[in-house]
Amino acid sequence: MRPPIHQLASADPSPWSDALSPSDGLPIRDSGPWIATKHRLLTYCAELFATGMQHKWRSRVYLELFSGPGKCVVRDTGKEAPGSPLKVINHLFTRFIFTEKNRAAAEALATRIEPYENSSRTEIWCGDCAEAVPHLHIPKGSLTFAFIDPTGIGHAPFALIEALHRKTQCDLLINIQHGMGIKMNIHQYTPDADEQSALTRFLGNDGWKRLPRHHPGDFFRGVLDLYKGQLDRLGFAFTGREVLIETQKRTPLYLLLFASKHERGKEFWEKSVKGVMHPELDFGL
Ligand SMILES: C[S@@+](CC[C@H](N)C(=O)[O-])C[C@H]1O[C@@H](n2cnc3c(N)ncnc32)[C@H](O)[C@@H]1O
Repeated sequence: MRPPIHQLASADPSPWSDALSPSDGLPIRDSGPWIATKHRLLTYCAELFATGMQHKWRSRVYLELFSGPGKCVVRDTGKEAPGSPLKVINHLFTRFIFTEKNRAAAEALATRIEPYENSSRTEIWCGDCAEAVPHLHIPKGSLTFAFIDPTGIGHAPFALIEALHRKTQCDLLINIQHGMGIKMNIHQYTPDADEQSALTRFLGNDGWKRLPRHHPGDFFRGVLDLYKGQLDRLGFAFTGREVLIETQKRTPLYLLLFASKHERGKEFWEKSVKGVMHPELDFGL
């Protein structure tokens, strides 16, 4: 079944600016080879979550806020790979909710999900995820795994995390733009920046203005600690180790940060990190 697409006022009607897939002619995301690590961590953790919670929570929701078109191409090799939504669509969730701003990408995602059995459990919201979240109907008594995968810190303000926290009991896997988002833009983040500064919106406060800024790495670490403090304030007390995703030349790109209100969530994440980053430890599933 083709999943329904709910159109929002903020949907972006512009044509898809990346390539079209040679195999199905639909929009495709241009990615680096590091996408494989991000997807492996996501799928490992989402799988542990969905199976581990199967007998505890009847309603288990997978929610992805920046879904993309459901397929990517690795630019160095030209090889196509499924996007994150298709990586998790066979997992044991009872509901799948995707939000994607670009209309062509949302349509492509619907077409690509259609052949899967879980397509009947899927809905897509086309528009800004900040507009979508208040509209989502997540049944009471659900446990949600939320993957937040923006391309810049400006796309995922802390208000979005607060809205999710109000909407549903959830664990969060968040992509935090490290290099391009924070470190490389440190010159923009001066103490006279106003409250619309991307960093203030990302953190939900301007505590970053008091951080030492001599070294971009230390500044980033300080921002991350403030962000974790904000999560803790909402009850996400278990944040686990964050994983740095780098280019082949070891340029830092982004961090994957997991946050849960329960120790069990942190266990799932720690297992996933060992399983993906250190498979030689063979800890067993
Ligand atoms: C990093 S890509 C997603 C990649 C995908 N999660 C994957 O791993 O296959 C980010 C996507 O978010 C979409 N996007 C950007 N801003 C958005 C917003 N405010 N709300 C929803 N989607 C947005 C972009 O069109 C893009 O397709």
